[in-house]
Amino acid sequence: MGEGSGSSVLCFYVNGQKIEDSAPDPKMTLLTYLRDKLRLTGSKLGCGEGGCGACTVMVSRYSDDTDTVKYPF
Ligand code: FES
Repeated sequence: MGEGSGSSVLCFYVNGQKIEDSAPDPKMTLLTYLRDKLRLTGSKLGCGEGGCGACTVMVSRYSDDTDTVKYPF
């Protein structure tokens, strides 16, 4: 399925591993996804309000052109 075709596959990379989820829960937070589905428990739920930083994850982009990872993307 192409862009705009109604595809609901979630695709992204975590620690270099490709993750594809054909039935993602649109209500699930990234933190819950990482902790509960991928069992990556480094990020925690602290205040739940954006004040403590316990839930922080680093988001980056890989560039095929330069073979580099860019932060932030
Ligand atoms: S749990 Fe996310 S900032 Fe505190």
